[in-house]
Amino acid sequence: MAGSEAYHVPVLVDEVVEFLSRGPDKGEIMDGTVGGGGHARALLERIENSRILAVDRDPEALAEARRALAPWSGRVRFLQARFDEAARGAGMLGPSLRGALLDLGVSSRQIDEDDRGFAFRSGEAPLDMRMGGGVEGGPTAAQILNEWSEEDLADLFRRYGELPKARRLAGEIVKRRATETFRTAKNLLDALTVAMRRPPGAKDKARLFQALRIEVNQEMEALESALPLLRDALHPEGVLVVIAYHSLEDREVKHTLREWSRACVCPPALPVCACRGEALGEVLTRSVVRPSEAEVKANPRSRSARLRAWRKAA
Ligand SMILES: C[S@@+](CC[C@H](N)C(=O)[O-])C[C@H]1O[C@@H](n2cnc3c(N)ncnc32)[C@H](O)[C@@H]1O
Repeated sequence: MAGSEAYHVPVLVDEVVEFLSRGPDKGEIMDGTVGGGGHARALLERIENSRILAVDRDPEALAEARRALAPWSGRVRFLQARFDEAARGAGMLGPSLRGALLDLGVSSRQIDEDDRGFAFRSGEAPLDMRMGGGVEGGPTAAQILNEWSEEDLADLFRRYGELPKARRLAGEIVKRRATETFRTAKNLLDALTVAMRRPPGAKDKARLFQALRIEVNQEMEALESALPLLRDALHPEGVLVVIAYHSLEDREVKHTLREWSRACVCPPALPVCACRGEALGEVLTRSVVRPSEAEVKANPRSRSARLRAWRKAA
């Protein structure tokens, strides 16, 4: 496996290149989640003269992307930031992007490494989960588990993890806090086992860790604020591509892109159109794009990927 492929195998690469190549030949493509640089590399190789603004909040990912994209260094700028902040910067002086890509969630490398506790592989992994490695501030997963109320914990497990025993798990965590501090994955998995009254399966654990990760990194908030900022930073006919792996994220993307593509957004009861009246652009993906069976077989982690694309009006 090539260096960056060992770090993370990019998903739906042909589709990403195809949609982003429909943008105007003007400005940069912002890869807001550059990770190991797999998508960025394909864009540089396959879209002539393209230039990339490579963004990631994780300093380790950015270091990997710098290595992977070294042969194209004259065509890439790197920025360690949240993609919503980067989008705000990109649109500050008017549109500057021909395209933008968000490939949400975490990379395989982040899941596989133990020292930040994104996954449940090692019981001794610390419950940290901050993608920005602490530079952005914000609580760790351990702080949430040790400090939040039972109700808020139950709500979090339900909302982002769809955990069936959310309430019971929250109760068990609060009970245990009287005698122990949550520090490692093992602390949490022990509480989950008691709450479920059986050894939790891989899916239960994955849902629980995912819920915490989404909260720790404010992933829904970053997505919600980034979408309109990216839209405004695109040149006319610029293309936005988003790959989501969580149903809530995909729903947000779907509704937002659909709303921007409607000509009139006034409430039906209003006798005269009082809104902008014109669609801001068009959805390019009639139905959501999912990886083929062959891609899922070759890369099982692509299974939940859902891609949507939108093009700004001329
Ligand atoms: C699925 S990986 C992207 C992989 C990449 N497309 C590639 O080809 O290697 C997601 C990446 O996005 C980064 N990330 C997630 N949320 C972010 C945010 N709000 N702002 C910036 N980077 C983010 C993660 O640190 C991670 O490196």
